[in-house]
Amino acid sequence: MVNTVKDVREIVNKWIDIHLHEYSNKISQGLPEIDDRYNLWRVSLVVKNGASSSIGEVKVSMNGEIAEHTEVGLLVKRLKKFIDQKEIVREKIAGLFYPAPIPNKVILGDAAIVLDEFPPDTAQLIITSPPYFNAKPQYSEYIDYQEYLDFLRKVFVRCHTILSEGRFFIINVSPVLIRRTSRSNSSKRIPIPFDIHRIMDTTGFEFIDDIIWVKPEGAGWNTGRGRRFAADRQPLQYKPVPVTEYVLVYRKKTNKLIDWNIRKHHDKRLVEESKIKGQYDITNVWHIPPGHHKDHPAVFPNELIRRLIKYYSFIDDLVLDPFAGSGTIGRVSIEMERRFLLIENNPRFFKAMKKELISLSSNLIRNVRVDFDINEGFKGDSNGD
Ligand SMILES: C[S@@+](CC[C@H](N)C(=O)[O-])C[C@H]1O[C@@H](n2cnc3c(N)ncnc32)[C@H](O)[C@@H]1O
Repeated sequence: MVNTVKDVREIVNKWIDIHLHEYSNKISQGLPEIDDRYNLWRVSLVVKNGASSSIGEVKVSMNGEIAEHTEVGLLVKRLKKFIDQKEIVREKIAGLFYPAPIPNKVILGDAAIVLDEFPPDTAQLIITSPPYFNAKPQYSEYIDYQEYLDFLRKVFVRCHTILSEGRFFIINVSPVLIRRTSRSNSSKRIPIPFDIHRIMDTTGFEFIDDIIWVKPEGAGWNTGRGRRFAADRQPLQYKPVPVTEYVLVYRKKTNKLIDWNIRKHHDKRLVEESKIKGQYDITNVWHIPPGHHKDHPAVFPNELIRRLIKYYSFIDDLVLDPFAGSGTIGRVSIEMERRFLLIENNPRFFKAMKKELISLSSNLIRNVRVDFDINEGFKGDSNGD
């Protein structure tokens, strides 16, 4: 006897798997109901994410057999019609914005405000490394850690809106080391990546990969971490010197496979030209020396960004960095024939970035312009011209 909703669902799932296997990820079940008159269960089949649009029904007898169902051909026909309709609407919307209608842009302003100006589908890739959190109140821009996380959430929500469907958001982040303030307390590491993961998960991004960026040994020695252990060799005091950072890869949540992003690209020639030839990184462990820049203390190494842009975007895509710093994303985008949208709220960094990008803009092949703007809502010292 089939007595529970769970049992009925399992039976119908098996039936879907056999008869509609190709579409099983597009169909879900309505709530099974008992039909007293015929003494059987009725289960409607609905299109996933389709505002509960029903495409037919399966009836299950009390002894667990399929008693009746909407003809399979008809189910497929209705399902396809629904999917096609959604696709047409989607393409119409996408056609408005993609490829990105804006030239390369560099904006002085607060990312949490500036990003509001841009419509959906502006960016096809986001790569960023958020501002540093400093737990010492006298140095920190944020009242406390929670305020810092709330600020990041605000920016990530806006990033979600302007990123194209199914495209990638890559965050470089690592636990922050807070040095001890006196002999009576110990240093701490704040596990920022794990809190950021929670934010990403709840703002509409799907976790895809964690790439481990490994710097040469010795790179973290000046943090002072592990010195006590090196001298005393006491168990429990062991603290490794961190030489890795996370590069967390997320995808804007969608029920479309990545194939869809490739198939729906507006220019097949660009898809072909963007193919990754020759050797590539087979594992998620990437050995890359840290980056340096004369005008900024914490920059991406160009090599890290070259790889990310190569693996996660097509030529002519627009790459956004809401916390642009020295503008590494701009420099490498120019080199790799991508467009860029950079936001930075520090006038000094903005000015340096502007100077450098102007000098590189003679190398712009596809994108003839770089615009430099100061956001109207910018409250800081806007001496960034
Ligand atoms: C870790 S750095 C990024 C460096 C960059 N990845 C590079 O390669 O040069 C973070 C940057 O975010 C900037 N920033 C902090 N708060 C911001 C905000 N609200 N809006 C825009 N930029 C901000 C900081 O001034 C800093 O330059």
